[in-house]
Amino acid sequence: MIIRSALFITSSPTLKQCPAPDKPEFGFIGRSNVGKSSLINMLTGFSKLAKTSGQPGKTRSINHFLINDCWYLVDLPGYGYAKVPEKIRREWTLSSGEYILKRDNLLNLFVLIDSRLNPQKSDISFMRFLGNSQIPFCRVFTKTDKISGAELEKTVRLSDQAMLEDWESLPPTFFSSAVRAEGREEILAYIEESMNNFSNTV
Ligand code: GTP
Ligand code: MG
Repeated sequence: MIIRSALFITSSPTLKQCPAPDKPEFGFIGRSNVGKSSLINMLTGFSKLAKTSGQPGKTRSINHFLINDCWYLVDLPGYGYAKVPEKIRREWTLSSGEYILKRDNLLNLFVLIDSRLNPQKSDISFMRFLGNSQIPFCRVFTKTDKISGAELEKTVRLSDQAMLEDWESLPPTFFSSAVRAEGREEILAYIEESMNNFSNTV
């Protein structure tokens, strides 16, 4: 897919303030600092579209970007970061949770996982929640430029093992590096295919 335009539309603290659900939408979620905003910038080719930071907890609300005037890409607040005060963490969880469960036009969530880490409880339990709630999702292993091929294989094997305790099959899986623009074609192709399947069913 060619990205012709990418526009920041709005930042919404809760579902109620989000734009009208009248376009296909794809969300990016994962632990704080996993690289959601960086991946969005890499995918769109606009390096300053979503705000990134070395400090976890940068993205604090639901950010909508309009792509090619026809679909939304959504940057969501990170979960599982211990240094954020409990009250704020609870607010994010509530607003992201409500968004995920009730956003009618959400076609798919990309769950980002840091390639360098062994399976994290928060990731596994979040994906379990998505499965139980029948929310379609993919895994994206991020920051692959920071590890070797062998280390990446190990991370994926451990993640697969942890998931197969709950699941009979694994979700679609991608690998990304915002630094090397790895995964761009594959993720955009998946988004395009999902939109085509969706328009064939309505
Ligand atoms: P929150 O909004 O705080 O939840 O974080 P986020 O998931 O949006 O992460 P963000 O994109 O802000 O990136 C966090 C840090 O990781 C930044 O310092 C980025 O430069 C760095 N980073 C993100 N993606 C990559 C990557 O693919 N490779 C490398 N080497 N660094 C990355
Ligand atoms: Mg962010």
